Amino acid sequence: MLKVLVLHGPNLDLLGRRDPAHYGQETLSAIDGRLAEVARARGAEVVSRQSNREGELIEALHDAAFGGEGGGPTVDAVVLNPGGYAHTSVALRDAVEACVASGTPVVEVHLSNVHAREPFRQRLLTGSAASGVVTGLGPLSYETGLTAALALADPSTEGA
Ligand code: DQA
Repeated sequence: MLKVLVLHGPNLDLLGRRDPAHYGQETLSAIDGRLAEVARARGAEVVSRQSNREGELIEALHDAAFGGEGGGPTVDAVVLNPGGYAHTSVALRDAVEACVASGTPVVEVHLSNVHAREPFRQRLLTGSAASGVVTGLGPLSYETGLTAALALADPSTEGA
């Protein structure tokens, strides 16, 4: 069974209360619940985590790609919303790059369309190292990201 880590970065714990014009009304637990259902319907499993701390996000990526037996992966793919760290964190970018290089795909997602917002959001440090980026579809960015992550981890699931 494919296992996907869904990793949410800073301030995403405030979804539903934070800037609904950009991020909608849905809470993080509602998004996670639907991702779990989508995964189950495809015979896969998601594990969701949220952290406001850069180092914890980096360590979660290290664990995903290298924390398993013999230094191998603990999951088949990662869906990552780095929040504001997408635009600022070289260290998180390097962790994403290490995951992808080791064979663990990382699909970056954003609820809002970062390209239609302030100029400082249009540079995606993490996105340039990710396997791909989905942005601007609201919660559907996560579902699309999960579909992509499953397909990248196991091409036989594509379009399933
Ligand atoms: C976000 C976009 C980022 O620019 C912002 O800092 C966030 C959320 C999104 O999901 O649209 O925290 O990653």
